Amino acid sequence: KRLVVLISGSGSNLQAIIDACQAGTVNGQVVGVISNKASAYGLTRAENAGVPTRVLSHKDFGDRESYDAALVAAVSDFSADLVVLAGFMRILTPVFVSAFEGKLLNIHPSLLPKYKGLDTHQRALDAGDSEHGVSVHFVTAELDGGPVIAQAKVAIEAADNADSLAEKVHRQEHVIYPMVCAWFVDGRLQMGEGKAWLDGQVL
Ligand code: GRF
Repeated sequence: KRLVVLISGSGSNLQAIIDACQAGTVNGQVVGVISNKASAYGLTRAENAGVPTRVLSHKDFGDRESYDAALVAAVSDFSADLVVLAGFMRILTPVFVSAFEGKLLNIHPSLLPKYKGLDTHQRALDAGDSEHGVSVHFVTAELDGGPVIAQAKVAIEAADNADSLAEKVHRQEHVIYPMVCAWFVDGRLQMGEGKAWLDGQVL
């Protein structure tokens, strides 16, 4: 199966997925990486792994819809079976989401439905939560709102700050995102009736 990964930054999740493909734990290959930022370190990771890259800057487009149309074309050029958003910091319109619905995944650093949007680690701390975590979900038109597939929890300790929490959450991200990609490429995971299904059971 052909995976296309969209990034805006460091790309540590991209790296985890490339590594899992190379190790054979994900039965597929990252065939393309697209970034909206030319400076994203994830582009270097892709190049080091011999994965073709493409930069598509949102600044070159007048509105979200025309950017998303170009993004649809770029992803389609790679003939993606699975589209993986891995720290892609753009809000997507239905132009993009509807083109790939059911094969579009995102990772969000909170225990959804808590803390959609930005600054999730600080918000969990400010709320006095005792646990925090990360969610992988199917993408729908609602921001961070599609059906959740998998979550991993981390404990919030008294000494934690937003940085230490982000680091703990990242370690979990690198475990659950390749795991969910593996389920999808093995045909075990689908979206239907607005829900996520694994092996025929609602998650
Ligand atoms: C992760 O925290 C992810 O949950 C969020 O963006 C960050 C991406 O990190 N959506 P990286 O670029 O994969 O290192």
